[in-house]
Amino acid sequence: MTSYERPHSTPYCIVYHEQTKYTPEGLSRRTRSLDWDAQPQATKTYTTGSVLDLRPYLPGQPDSFPAGELSSLSRLLYLTYGVTAVIPYPDRPFYMRSAPSAGGLYPAEVYVISRGTPALEAGIYNYQVSSHSLIGFWKGNAWQGLKEAAFGATAFETAHLAIVVTGVFERSAWRYEDRAYRRIFLDSGHLLGNLELAASLEQYHVSLFTGFADDLLRDLLFLSPQQEEGIAIAALLPLQNPPEPQSALPSSIRRDYPEIPEGQRLYYLHEVSKIAQLPTTIPHRVAEDKYNFPFCLKIPTITVPIDWQDNRLEQAIVRRRSTRQYTGEMLTFEELKLLLDFTYQPQHYSDQGFDPVPEYAHLALLSTFVAVLGVEGLEPGCYYYAPGAQELRQIRFKNFRKEVFHLCLGQDLGRDSGAVIFHTADLPVAANLYGERVYRTLHLDSGHLAQRLNLAAMRLGLGVSGIAGFFDDQVNEVLGIPEQEAVLYLTTLGRPVQGRGSA
Ligand SMILES: Cc1cc2nc3c(=O)[nH]c(=O)nc-3n(C[C@H](O)[C@H](O)[C@H](O)COP(=O)(O)O)c2cc1C
Repeated sequence: MTSYERPHSTPYCIVYHEQTKYTPEGLSRRTRSLDWDAQPQATKTYTTGSVLDLRPYLPGQPDSFPAGELSSLSRLLYLTYGVTAVIPYPDRPFYMRSAPSAGGLYPAEVYVISRGTPALEAGIYNYQVSSHSLIGFWKGNAWQGLKEAAFGATAFETAHLAIVVTGVFERSAWRYEDRAYRRIFLDSGHLLGNLELAASLEQYHVSLFTGFADDLLRDLLFLSPQQEEGIAIAALLPLQNPPEPQSALPSSIRRDYPEIPEGQRLYYLHEVSKIAQLPTTIPHRVAEDKYNFPFCLKIPTITVPIDWQDNRLEQAIVRRRSTRQYTGEMLTFEELKLLLDFTYQPQHYSDQGFDPVPEYAHLALLSTFVAVLGVEGLEPGCYYYAPGAQELRQIRFKNFRKEVFHLCLGQDLGRDSGAVIFHTADLPVAANLYGERVYRTLHLDSGHLAQRLNLAAMRLGLGVSGIAGFFDDQVNEVLGIPEQEAVLYLTTLGRPVQGRGSA
């Protein structure tokens, strides 16, 4: 019996995780080739609705409109998910965006809901990335419905604008099948990372809702069931004096389920992780100081924060690309410290105007491990990063370069990087606290952290790329990451070969 066959006491998300693991044997058995004719469109089109062109509101445009709410919204959407490069393929141009996406499939869609402001009539708008415009496809009071979907949260009494992120599952499932669910939420987390940071430039704090009444939200946005579903709601509040962060809401745990056929597992997990009513008890998990072994070497990572003055954040977002090839040269320990500092210590950046308390669903459930392959001044090996103590703790010594190459499914990015960051979580503990829903939010939070890593790497002139395809179990075995930690996502960092996705 494999670990994911019954007993049925196992939460479904853990079964899903087991069933979607990559193993060398599993991948070598795969014979399916991609049906390019069946690839879904990466954008939505609307046949009706009013068009609001946001391009004239971007800075640097010939007849740029004056500063105001629409300029702010235009910049915010552009930096969150806008088109930053176009590859002019003859049949259909390929729009590359400010947020990365596994396989460049862009399953996420972005909507704006206005409560009714001087600049934006009350209603629901879809962000059209290719034309940087909003299509107002529903005019009227959607705000009340949004507030109900968020179980009446007080943020909707103060805010006037909200961003809703959804996922068109088939765009990613077309290629990644059931494992697409992981990537859809990782992608969306990257997007939320951009949103959080871009919002601070516009003096907004993002109040993040990952627990909401799924079907209410879906109906509000006129989404087709199972084809496109809600992922997160972000209410825009003033950056000054932000409210207490939202508590992530739990869903129930599904312990009784039939055998779900391949190709249906991502849809089933989404269904069983839905929330219909405000849960009666909301867990609150505080961060614990994990893996604090008494005799392990502890290396402080405190440093002088990155300087983001002179529009460096906008530049990093607009220029960001996933590196396609590293030189194999070493990083410096100072660079690694800066990457960790920007990603995990946002409070160090408030005097530069950034949000000191960006909202995640529940960071306390995530752990971070660093495989050091080539960092000057730091012994190669695997380290646990303790964000509270701001230190690296040695887990295992060895240069894992060859092994990491294999673990990343033989991708050169793994072999030639200087360091690889692993985000992990103890799934049974997480699921017992937050139910099936936690599978979504762990991936969202991992993607959000990874986007901060991406942007810090860009700022430092380093290369960076996410990797969501890896031999799950072997990562733990080889690197010595405790076996209860399920690996969710890898971020490779290194020196880029110029012109191959470099800063
Ligand atoms: C969740 C996620 C997983 C990814 N996995 C891989 C990967 O396994 N290998 C790889 O080379 N790139 C990977 N990428 C990078 C994407 O291929 C890249 O984002 C996409 O091609 C768009 O290019 P850009 O990031 O330069 O805009 C990943 C990106 C994301 C967000």
